Amino acid sequence: MSAVSPCGVRLAGTGSAVPPRVLHNRDLERMMDTTDEWITQRTGIRERRICDPRTEGTFTLGRDALARALDEAGMKGSDLDLIICGTCTPEMACPSNACRIAAALDATPAAAFDLTAACCGFVYSLNVGESLIRSGRFRSVGVIGVDAMSTAIDYDDRSVSILFGDAAGAAVLVRDDDPGKGCIYQRMHADGRGWASLYIPRREQEVPADDRENPIRLGCLRMNGREVFKFAVNRFRETVEDALAGTGLSVDDVAQFVCHQSNLRIIEAARERIGIPSEKMPVNIDRFGNSSAGSAGLLLDQLRKDGKCGAGDTVVVVAFGGGMTWASSVWRL
Ligand code: COA
Repeated sequence: MSAVSPCGVRLAGTGSAVPPRVLHNRDLERMMDTTDEWITQRTGIRERRICDPRTEGTFTLGRDALARALDEAGMKGSDLDLIICGTCTPEMACPSNACRIAAALDATPAAAFDLTAACCGFVYSLNVGESLIRSGRFRSVGVIGVDAMSTAIDYDDRSVSILFGDAAGAAVLVRDDDPGKGCIYQRMHADGRGWASLYIPRREQEVPADDRENPIRLGCLRMNGREVFKFAVNRFRETVEDALAGTGLSVDDVAQFVCHQSNLRIIEAARERIGIPSEKMPVNIDRFGNSSAGSAGLLLDQLRKDGKCGAGDTVVVVAFGGGMTWASSVWRL
C-alpha cells in the first residue's frame, strides 16, 4: 500500500428531511390502549413524523437530506466519490438505498453502499466515511442516517410503537489538507450477545424461545424495553466519558453533545450523571420521537441551522442501539 499524506476531514454541509405527516400522541390514543400522559411521562415524546408508504420511504428521505447537505456545501452529486447510507429499514435488500440515491443525485459512478447499525447508523456512517477519506482512497463522501421505523412497527404493540418516527440526516465530508481539521476522535463498538433485546425478525425460527409467548409479527421490531433502557443509560454515559477522556476535552470545551434521541429519561439520566448542562445536550425527541439512524443527523443539522454550533466549535455525536451497538464521533467544525 502506498504511503498516504496525513489529511483532515472537513464537515462541509449537513441536511435533513422528515415526512410532513405528524402522528401525535392523541392519534395513538385512538389506535391503542394508551394515553398522551403515559407516553409523555415515560418517553418525553409528544409527536413523531410518519411516512406515507405510497410515496415516501428511506430512499426519498435519504435523497432529500443528502441533496440539502450538498446544497449547503456548495457541491453537486457528481462531486462525491462515495455515498454511505446507514439504515435498517431500506426499501429493498438489493439494490442498496445508497445506489438509488447516488443515481438520483447524479453521483454515478461514485461508490455506494448501505450500512446496518440500527440507531448508530448515522454515527457509524460518519466514522467510516471519515476513515476512508483519511486513508487517502476517497476525497468527498456523502453520509446519511435514515430510518422509516413506521414500516417496521406493529401498531398493536403499544410499548414499542409509541417510541418511533421517521427521519433522515446527512453530512458531506471532504478531504482537508489540515490534519487537525474535522473529526478528532471516533469510536465504534458492538456486543452481539444482547441482540435479542432489539430486533426485527424475518423468520419465525429467529425468535428466541423466551420471546415466543408474545404474538409474532414478522418484519416488525421486537424490544425488551427494560433491558434496552439499562443498556442505553450505562453505555451512553460511558461513551460520552470515553470521548472526553480520549480527546482531553472537558464539558466546557464542547459546544454541543448531539445525542441519539432514544427516550428523554435515558438522555436526562446520563446527562445528569456526567454533569452536562441541559443547553449543551439539546433534545428534539418531543417532536420527532426516536427516528433510529435518522436521529443524530437530524439533530446535528437542526443545531447548525439554528446557529447553536458553527465554525470552530467542538461537537460530540453519540449513539447506541440495536445490535447492540454504540459509537461516538468528535468534530471540530
Ligand atoms: N401506554 C400505556 N401503558 C403502557 C404502554 C403504553 N404505550 N406501554 C406499556 N404500558 C404498560 C405496560 O403494559 C406495563 O403495564 P403492567 O404494569 O400492567 O404490566 C406498564 O405500562 C409498565 O411497563 P414497562 O415496560 O415496565 O414500562 P417502562 O417504564 O419500562 O417504559 C418504555 C417502557 C418502552 C418506554 C421504556 O422501557 C423504554 O423507553 N425503554 C428503552 C426503549 C428505547 O430507547 N429503545 C430504542 C433504543 S435505541
